[in-house]
Amino acid sequence: MSIFEENIRQLDSYVPGPEPPLREPERQLWFLKETRRLVSSRAAEAGRKLTANVHTFGCQMNERDSEKIRGILLAAGYELTDGEDADLCLYNTCTVRENANMKVYGRLGLLGNYKKKNPSMIIALCGCMMQEPTAEAKVKESYPFVDLIFGTHNLYRFAELLYRVLSGEGPVCEIWESTDEVVEELPAQRTYPFKSGVNIMYGCNNFCTYCIVPYVRGRERSRTPEDILRECESLAADGVKEIMLLGQNVNSYGKTLEDPVSFAELLRRVNEVEGIGRIRFMTSHPKDLSDELILAMRDCDKVCGHLHLPLQSGSDALLKKMNRHYTREDYLRLTDRLRSAMPDLSLTTDLIVGFPGETEQDIQDTLDIVRRVGYDTAFTFIYSKRSGTPAAKMPDQIPEDVVKDRFGRLLAVVQETGRERSSRFTGRVMPVLAEHVNEQDPSLITGRLDCNLTVHFKGDPSLVGEITDVRLTECRGFYYLGERAAVKE
Ligand code: SAH
Ligand code: SF4
Ligand code: F3S
Repeated sequence: MSIFEENIRQLDSYVPGPEPPLREPERQLWFLKETRRLVSSRAAEAGRKLTANVHTFGCQMNERDSEKIRGILLAAGYELTDGEDADLCLYNTCTVRENANMKVYGRLGLLGNYKKKNPSMIIALCGCMMQEPTAEAKVKESYPFVDLIFGTHNLYRFAELLYRVLSGEGPVCEIWESTDEVVEELPAQRTYPFKSGVNIMYGCNNFCTYCIVPYVRGRERSRTPEDILRECESLAADGVKEIMLLGQNVNSYGKTLEDPVSFAELLRRVNEVEGIGRIRFMTSHPKDLSDELILAMRDCDKVCGHLHLPLQSGSDALLKKMNRHYTREDYLRLTDRLRSAMPDLSLTTDLIVGFPGETEQDIQDTLDIVRRVGYDTAFTFIYSKRSGTPAAKMPDQIPEDVVKDRFGRLLAVVQETGRERSSRFTGRVMPVLAEHVNEQDPSLITGRLDCNLTVHFKGDPSLVGEITDVRLTECRGFYYLGERAAVKE
């Protein structure tokens, strides 16, 4: 039985006392039960089930948080919908780049219109952007119809906060600056039945000078290996085949635990969980990637042959200004070590163009290292000034037209290298996790290789959620066509 079902069962048989308990997560169960009562009386008034919509901006960390929010909404009696004209609409926000914020503001206007038609609609905002005092102030001033605002540290208190809104307290806003707590065991509703993210740590201590994440997610906190393994086991029992271990810098996992455990050791232990077929992880900081981890990746059969290893820049001068703690030579040596241990390994990366002070030589250095490493894919970002970060105050911010030109050139090289690399598995038989029936051609199943590339192959819908061997017959740019293979080569 999944943690979700277990909690819901607990909720059915749970008789709330007169006062909410002080301990967590018991306190949230108390509020969940009370929230369920309020939702059911609103539904009776409306003569229908209440609907809720959760929209996620940002990274896998936020996606996972949204699954927890959906778990609570379902347990409270809401029906989840895709439309934003729901009885409750929640945006889980991101603030890593300015355009993430702009998207939220743009769409909030739309939500205001829905609320005019349905005045009892609840509009809620949470996530990284809400941890910024300027964003919080702007929402309160320009979008007064927002009923609930909370941040990243108190997400586990969603049931309680929702209860306060539903019981008519008026707009509720609760944002914490930080927390030491990691509250577990609340329900989560997975987006995919067969794959799931698993948080192994929260926060970040690295303070790369361009990045706002440490300010909005707080200091590094690791979950204990026991909690992580228990969650993986219960996901496996619930049919999950692929898990992605999540943290801003998984390579520094476990350092702050009472009994320190390395990420490599954790990986070896997760690899033992029966039923799990694939393990991914994200994100690895190059400065902390140990040889111990390279060996663990090589030895653990379930760990995917794919590593996301953000480079950010190929210029030593910029890497220093970015506070990344490695040089281009360090990075190249690291990728050499990785490739000699795992020749098939797919490497992907993140790159920033237009960091303050960036010169033509800096971008040439980046283009050079991209060609040398040979990434399967790279996510290229235009530097976005985040107020409060050291880089925002650096001189020589780069003019937009220069950045656009450099960005275009980098993208061209990234795509060229990616296309060349993608076809290297043609003719091989490889395991594929079947993810869904192909939308255009229902006789095809669409799945994913462990290097993350997509494969389309003839197959029965019953394969969805299973890992099956597929011969990769043809590479078409960034995806493969294949056919099921009886025996693995
Ligand atoms: N913790 C991860 C990255 C999290 S943010 C890591 O260190 O690898 C994801 C990516 O967003 C970063 O790798 C970086 O390339 C990009 N990014 C972060 N801040 C940015 C900014 N201010 N402007 C542009 N891109 C940024
Ligand atoms: Fe941001 Fe750097 Fe932390 Fe990644 S490691 S979240 S880029 S500060
Ligand atoms: Fe965005 Fe927060 Fe992730 S700022 S990238 S959602 S950690």
